[in-house]
Amino acid sequence: MNDLVREAGDVLAVKGEFPGLASVDGAADWHYLDTAATAQKPQAVIDATVNALGRDYATVHRGVYARSAEMTLAFEAARRTVAEFLGGREDEIVFTRGATEAINLVAQTWGVQNLKAGDRILVSVLEHHSNIVPWQLLRDRTGVEIDVCPLTADGSIDLEAAERILTPAHKLVAFAHVSNVLGSVLHVEHAARLAHAVGAKLLVDGCQAAPRIALDMKAMQADFYVFSAHKLYGPTGIGALWARKDILDGMPPWQGGGSMIDRVTFEKTTYAPAPQRFEAGTPMIVEAIGLAAAIDWLRAFGLDRAEAHERHLAAKLREELGKRNDVTLFGPADSVGIVSFALDGVHPHDLGTILDEEGVAIRAGHHCAQPLMDHLGVPATARASFGLYSDDSDIEALMKGIERTRRIFG
Ligand SMILES: Cc1ncc(COP(=O)(O)O)c(C=O)c1O
Repeated sequence: MNDLVREAGDVLAVKGEFPGLASVDGAADWHYLDTAATAQKPQAVIDATVNALGRDYATVHRGVYARSAEMTLAFEAARRTVAEFLGGREDEIVFTRGATEAINLVAQTWGVQNLKAGDRILVSVLEHHSNIVPWQLLRDRTGVEIDVCPLTADGSIDLEAAERILTPAHKLVAFAHVSNVLGSVLHVEHAARLAHAVGAKLLVDGCQAAPRIALDMKAMQADFYVFSAHKLYGPTGIGALWARKDILDGMPPWQGGGSMIDRVTFEKTTYAPAPQRFEAGTPMIVEAIGLAAAIDWLRAFGLDRAEAHERHLAAKLREELGKRNDVTLFGPADSVGIVSFALDGVHPHDLGTILDEEGVAIRAGHHCAQPLMDHLGVPATARASFGLYSDDSDIEALMKGIERTRRIFG
């Protein structure tokens, strides 16, 4: 209990750091419950981004003048920050446009190089389209087969089923660490053991885990891990791929251009070592510095406290929704930060619209997880997702809005 009290105090303190949450001209509070789509940004990230774009701006890796050299140091320091955050090495971090691009990079480089017709990939029912479609594009190119791992009754990836499905023909397992719809959490070490037992690699989509759970690549034993900065209180337009160094070293280049080369002639081009080999063109300089600021901010808050806070809010909302007899809850009881539900007789979009009138922002839709919607037997769900600035008042406002929606729909 003491922990939760301390949490609540901390959250009140951080809320003021997010200008995106401030009420305008004394208007009623805005209850932002769509952090799983994208997180609001603390002032520290905004300041770092503005300074990088203004006061400190210059290109990286090429300039011979001091400003460019300083910017290069800051950009490469950002890579180190990401590496420390993940518990990896800095030469294992590739900056990408986001998680989506990171997964496509793996599919189109490692996948094309290593997979062939007859090989198999295992994904799960709850994957985001970003962790389905790149593998389908790879299937079209190479003839690999895709298997789908079922879920447990409460909506976690069923690792016992995964063990039964996996065979030596499987070369890759690609699972979400935290479901963006259900909030269910994958036991990554267990998934890695299963994948490695048949000689497959494990790719983990960490989009929803990175802002909520402490990560340690050495302990987790995944082979690839991806995330997006904008869900982690950082800017849009940047994310990262972490891959084990020996794997990254063996991967062919993806996009060609400046920065990724060693020597170019018309006859033959040789390439830079990883990770530069995968970063063609002028990189996301400002965004990388914003990402590093976001990681610094999140680490100062503390990942263990973040997880406790997000578990507390998910449990509390599930408890409140569970008291109603007109609500169907999806996902497991021990979900983290994300709760999906349905209100009987009300389309999630109608619910979302009425809640908006009440100053409550939720997400309504398929959440880029149409196969999961098919599995749940619904076209869409209502989803409330929390951040470190969320608190019990957001849950109260949501419950009040649901009650009003009930009165309107009868
Ligand atoms: C679990 C999961 N994977 C992948 C993505 C894709 O992230 P991005 O659009 O930032 O590339 C998201 C974003 O919604 C997500 O929640």
